[in-house]
Amino acid sequence: MLAVLRGTAMRSLLILLAGALIGALIAFSAANALHQRNAWPRGVMAVLQQHQAELRRLQRSGKCDPAVMALHLRRLAETAVDIGPSQPGEVPDFFAQAKQFADLGQRWAQQPPADCQGLDAPLQQIREACEGCHRDYR
Ligand code: HEC
Repeated sequence: MLAVLRGTAMRSLLILLAGALIGALIAFSAANALHQRNAWPRGVMAVLQQHQAELRRLQRSGKCDPAVMALHLRRLAETAVDIGPSQPGEVPDFFAQAKQFADLGQRWAQQPPADCQGLDAPLQQIREACEGCHRDYR
């Protein structure tokens, strides 16, 4: 009698554990799918942030090699082109802002500043563009 009870209790416990494990696996794969789905837009944003940060770092260092500034501005401009395609479900105004930002990056990439002080304008315009879109869509 005792042995049977123990067997039943054990079986219940195992079923409970199996249920918990399956639940955890489902939650994990759902979280993972969600993460994967956002991988591209988040990756694009991370790259933008990185190049913006590099430009700020250059300016703070007081050593602004024009070639290095041009490189980061170019990478910003090239990456900006992916903002729209990486978030295909957005509304027309989002794509308009994404395009405006890409154009802004393109302009500065084509006419990079010559010195640290020259970074003031592009850095300010870039920051305003990031903030503008984040205010509306993030
Ligand atoms: C046209 C719109 C738009 C522009 C321009 C834009 N962003 Fe974003 N950004 C978004 C949206 C929308 C999200 C939320 C994306 C998500 O969570 O899937 C976001 C999220 C982010 C994130 C968080 C990413 C993460 O891992 O959750 C960072 C960092 C970021 N943006 C940086 C920037 C920087 C830096 C700039 C400018 C150089 C910029 N963004 C310009 C729309 C924009």
